[in-house]
Amino acid sequence: MRFSDEFLQEVTLRSDIIDIMGQSIKLQSSGVGKFKALCPFHRDTKTPSLSISADKQLFHCFGCGKGGGVIQFVMEQQGLDFQEAVIYLAERANLDIPKNNQNNEDYVKNDIKKILFEINLECAKYFRSELSKSKKALDYAKERGLSPEVIKKFGIGYAPSNNKILDILEKKGYSKEQLNLAGIIGTAEDGREYLRFKDRLMFPIIDLRKNVIAFGGRAFGDAMPKYLNTSNTPIFNKSYNLFALNFAKNSPTPYLILTEGYMDVIALHTAGYSAAIATLGTALTEQQVRLIRRFRGEVIICYDSDEAGQKATKRSIDLLAKEGIRARVLIQPDCKDPDEYINKYGASAFGDLIKTAPIAIEHLYEDIRAKYDLSTSEGKIGFARTLALELAKIDSEIELEIYGRKCAEMAGINYETILSEVIKAKKRAVGANIVRPQQTQISSPSVNRPSPDKELIKLILNDQTALDMAIKNLTPEDFDGELWQSLASEFWNGKTFEEINSNPKFAENMNEISELILNDEQIVDIKLAATELILKVKSNSKKRRLDEAAQSGDIERVAKIMSE
Ligand code: CTP
Ligand code: MN
Repeated sequence: MRFSDEFLQEVTLRSDIIDIMGQSIKLQSSGVGKFKALCPFHRDTKTPSLSISADKQLFHCFGCGKGGGVIQFVMEQQGLDFQEAVIYLAERANLDIPKNNQNNEDYVKNDIKKILFEINLECAKYFRSELSKSKKALDYAKERGLSPEVIKKFGIGYAPSNNKILDILEKKGYSKEQLNLAGIIGTAEDGREYLRFKDRLMFPIIDLRKNVIAFGGRAFGDAMPKYLNTSNTPIFNKSYNLFALNFAKNSPTPYLILTEGYMDVIALHTAGYSAAIATLGTALTEQQVRLIRRFRGEVIICYDSDEAGQKATKRSIDLLAKEGIRARVLIQPDCKDPDEYINKYGASAFGDLIKTAPIAIEHLYEDIRAKYDLSTSEGKIGFARTLALELAKIDSEIELEIYGRKCAEMAGINYETILSEVIKAKKRAVGANIVRPQQTQISSPSVNRPSPDKELIKLILNDQTALDMAIKNLTPEDFDGELWQSLASEFWNGKTFEEINSNPKFAENMNEISELILNDEQIVDIKLAATELILKVKSNSKKRRLDEAAQSGDIERVAKIMSE
């Protein structure tokens, strides 16, 4: 039997590698979302040679070379084969295991989830086309600052008051029962069925695999409830999803911006802040935090400035800290929410807020304190210096004083001591900006350079820009080596790393892949590195094809390749 890709991804999505490894191994934090441990697979009890990445969901031992994703870990640790490991993880996550006697195609065809995705997609398309026909909805969209580009990007639509969508879906062969399951129709207490979304501006909620899994609908004016969301269905659980994460995960920033509402996210994306995501009308959940951790180690919390929003901020800071994510808190003076702020003060003013958003001080303090022994003088000095480096990043003097005093008090150090260190650190920071050395090499040269193909794959695995550049300039066949070619063709077909991580096709090669990704080598200028590598891969590919054509005596082909 073969599991469907969808099922495999569901299993890996619900099986956090940190959770699972943490059950049997002592993990030491070694940076945001990174851990080290003694490797359980070889006899080395001294150096923690095992690296684990929460966001990439990979482990790799640089001592014995074992590595991979969560499935490979379970296989290795429990001596299971791929299928058995998947079943173990699925049971652990309370997922139904697809029946044995169905072959894969039947399983997918019968899978109700697939039908629900289709229904949602049909609805999204219908709502979109209705938006262009409704003056009222278009006017409202305009009033809220939704440009045609943003409407298109987010697939925003309009659900009219009539029941026409039911006819359309029925004609396509979907049953009432299926529409009910999808949350498109509801059943009233008297048993009568009703259409859930009527006369609302519709925001599709899209998952990481680009499926439309639910909708949020905004009423016009003051009609109640203001927002109506799809209730939980077999394909949608609001505690497990985040609005716009499908876009935000590709943003170039090292952080995500966490907001409360659909309109906040959309206003931020419109203003160029594509890292914005939102919870879906609920408080942030642990599952959502784990989802975030797959992509970023830092979150800027940007909730509403009312009391509820501030309470939620405190709660979220704790939740994020528990999962090892660094939080910063963005404060919007005189505005209710980011949507309002941007409309009032403009996009670049919001950029200033991001730049100066302070680190949640509790984090800062705890993170740094863990590294020093405060009962000794050296420990105190080290602590004060490191803390000062972070405090030096705070621009507002009032904030600096509040945080500085708080930290001084917590550590039992004189505030003036910390302040003088902060001033020194600020001066150094200014100097550093002026004389920052320009490094251009790809990475430190070494005797055993891996092939350019391998290096380029490594870049692609780690960086979206490199991937985009490679896709523009190369085809998967340009790579030398079967593994690199098939990895490339997955990416070229729009597959994400999560999909590759759970793909049985790569199960055997996961240790090689995890090594590439978890290797700490720093690349200074990614664009430059990518350009150089793409050129090398391309010219090697040309050489290979030339050799091949020449050897087979195909003069025409030789000429053709030469003229490329
Ligand atoms: N929400 C909801 N149901 C409601 C009200 C709010 O699910 N009845 C959720 C929505 O996801 C909404 C978020 O909570 O986006 C924030 O609510 P609120 O601050 O009231 O709305 P705004 O985002 O300010 O929306 P708008 O700007 O459209 O008024
Ligand atoms: Mn608002």
